[in-house]
Amino acid sequence: MNIHKVIIPVAGWGTRSLPATKNIPKEMLPVYNKPVVQYVVEEAIASGLNDVCFITNRDKNVIEDHFDHNLQLEAVLERAGKTQQLEVIRRVATMINCISIRQKQQLGLGHAVLCAKEVMSGDEAFAVMVGDDLMFGMNPGIKQLIDVAQSERLSVIGVMEVPQEHVSRYGIISGTEISPGIYQVEKLVEKPKIDEAPSRLAIVGRYVLSSSIFKHLESIAPGHGGEIQLTDALQLQANTQGLLAVKIHGMRFDTGDWAEYLTANIYFALQEEELRDDLIRHLRPLLPFG
Ligand code: G1P
Repeated sequence: MNIHKVIIPVAGWGTRSLPATKNIPKEMLPVYNKPVVQYVVEEAIASGLNDVCFITNRDKNVIEDHFDHNLQLEAVLERAGKTQQLEVIRRVATMINCISIRQKQQLGLGHAVLCAKEVMSGDEAFAVMVGDDLMFGMNPGIKQLIDVAQSERLSVIGVMEVPQEHVSRYGIISGTEISPGIYQVEKLVEKPKIDEAPSRLAIVGRYVLSSSIFKHLESIAPGHGGEIQLTDALQLQANTQGLLAVKIHGMRFDTGDWAEYLTANIYFALQEEELRDDLIRHLRPLLPFG
């Protein structure tokens, strides 16, 4: 099972991040020195996914532009002898094969994935990565799913344990643990009420899907919030072909949540040796225990 395509839906409004996202896609907000979506794309590349299909809308062209050449800027940097910066922006321009599909109506995550049906050839399995969920660990989050999908030849979704009071923000699964951290999924509920959640295992925006998902997406009615939910199509896959969930090892930042977005900025800046000491010096007096 060769998996080299990934769908990254980026057509959402980003209302949680207003007013910052009034005219800037939420995926282009910077985390330290790169836009959010570049981290997602770099996780994809590190996992062997070089064909990236963005599901966009009319206001999101700047995302594709980010992964293309800016010849004017390249010429300016070249003339100024700024070779390091030149290398950085050329690397971004050449890192992926970029495919872009317009989602003309915002009908949900399931609908966004369905928009890519025509560019996913035949029986090929593919990945889906939510464009504002950042993940970090020794092994890229999506790679952890690809490894299991390839050995078990089934669709696989990424999950993480969340506090009980947060279950209503996610798709929640229940199932049988067939080996450590791997579950045969039985039930999926999109954004359940706290007392109706079948577990605390939340779907975290990383999926490896077989092409049968498209026929399920075409057959379902709108679900939670009146949207075509990927979670509901996954329930049909679980009932028929079978579906696995893998507990992803690593850290996750939901960049649509201000506290997590700001923590991600500090986390990545702290990894930078040249910035680390200065940043700590500036932060210390701001903290109550500083
Ligand atoms: C989507 C999915 C949900 C999942 C979440 C992870 O929800 O529908 O099942 O838990 O992504 O980020 P959204 O955040 O788009 O409302």
